[in-house]
Amino acid sequence: MKSILENRPALKAEIDKVAEVAGYLWQKGWAERNGGNITVNITEFVDDAMRAMPAIEQPRPIGRVLPLLGGRWFYCKGTGRRMRDLARDPMANGSIIRILPDCAHYEIVADQPVAPTSELPSHLAVHDYLLANGSPYRASLHTHPIELVALTHNRKWLEKDAATKMLWSMIPETRAFCPRGLGIVPYMMPSSHELAEATINVIDENYDVVMWEKHGVFAVDTDIINAFDQVDVLNKAAQIYIAARNMGFVPDGMTAAQMRELGITFGLPK
Ligand code: 13P
Ligand code: ZN
Repeated sequence: MKSILENRPALKAEIDKVAEVAGYLWQKGWAERNGGNITVNITEFVDDAMRAMPAIEQPRPIGRVLPLLGGRWFYCKGTGRRMRDLARDPMANGSIIRILPDCAHYEIVADQPVAPTSELPSHLAVHDYLLANGSPYRASLHTHPIELVALTHNRKWLEKDAATKMLWSMIPETRAFCPRGLGIVPYMMPSSHELAEATINVIDENYDVVMWEKHGVFAVDTDIINAFDQVDVLNKAAQIYIAARNMGFVPDGMTAAQMRELGITFGLPK
C-alpha cells in the first residue's frame, strides 16, 4: 500500500522524529503497554494533493469547538497502540487527521483507519491554545516517566514550583534546558476535557512541561525531539535526587547564588 509519506521527504522526516522518540520512551521504561501519546501539528508540510485526498472514515466529533484548528492537520498516535510498535511503523500505529472547517470534527486521511489517542482532547486543546498565542510550538508529548510520577505521590512536591526548584538544583542542565520548570495539574480523569482545560491553564502560566498528578507529564515544544528533551532533563534530575536519597542523605542542591548566576548567563525566562 502506498503511504502518504511517499515523495514527501519533509513530512516523512517529521514523522521519523516521532518514531525516534517513541523508541526512546520505550527504552526508558516510560511507555508500558500503550502508555503515552504524541501529536504533531503537520499543517506546514501539507500540499495541494494532500488537501484533495478523501477521508478514509466518517468525521468524528472532537467534543468541543477549537476555533484555531479548522483546516489544520495532525499526526496522532493511535489509541491503544504501543510506542514500541510505533517506533517501527509510525503509520500503522498512528494516523494523519485533518480538522474540518467547523472546528468541531476531524477525519482520518491516512494511511490507515487508526483511531487517535484517547488524550486527543488535551492534545488538540493545547495545539489550539498554542496557535491562538502565536507560539512556534508544534509538538506535544504525553508520557509516564517513572521518577517524576513517583514524586507526585507526596503532597510536598505538588506545591507550586516545589518540584521545579528541587529538580533545577540537581544539575545545571536541568534549569538551562527546561527553563520554565514543571507545572502541576492535580489528579483528574485521563482523557477528560477537564484535564485538557487544566493543562492549558498551567501552560498559560508559562510552563512547557506539565505534571499530571499520579499519571504522567504533558510537554510541548517546537518539535517532538525538543519536547522529549525537556522531559528527559527533568527526569534525570529526579533520578539524581533519588540516587542521593538512596545513598542515605538529602542532596544539598545548587545554591540560590549558583542558580541565579545560571539564569543570568543563559538569559533564562524564570
Ligand atoms: P492512548 O493509548 O489512548 O494514547 O492512551 C495512553 C495514555 O497514556 C492515556 O493517558
Ligand atoms: Zn497516560
